[in-house]
Amino acid sequence: MTIHIINGPNLNLLGTREPGIYGSSTFEDYLLKLRQRYPSINIQYYQSNVEGLLIDRLQQVGFSADGIILNAGAYTHTSIALQDCIRSLTAPVIEVHISNVHKREEFRHHSMISCVCKGVICGFGLDSYRLAIEALI
Ligand code: DQA
Repeated sequence: MTIHIINGPNLNLLGTREPGIYGSSTFEDYLLKLRQRYPSINIQYYQSNVEGLLIDRLQQVGFSADGIILNAGAYTHTSIALQDCIRSLTAPVIEVHISNVHKREEFRHHSMISCVCKGVICGFGLDSYRLAIEALI
């Protein structure tokens, strides 16, 4: 089974970015733990701050992957282009957020991509990604 985790803008700063909200672990450290926990799953990781590069990656893997776990960061709330892209793919895409976006500012309450994702997991810290893997399994 091959699962792609794709992180959007500012998620490269995990560990130092607003640790009260996003925690103090880097994504790379968390990824090591995920791969140890699921040794039989091929977990690929990609991060970009650029909307078009996220779309390129989704198009590249979205017809062959068994599943995609996407944290689109702030593009979640703005991107029709990501919505159109996800709609075109054959692989199931799970939308994840580290924080509970519904407990935060109102502009984070709406997602442009939930309507084309298989499901949404948010608010469990980095564990949101593990829960998404469980859902895909
Ligand atoms: C986030 C929530 C978004 O609102 C925010 O813009 C992010 C991170 C999360 O994982 O909680 O960059 O997607």
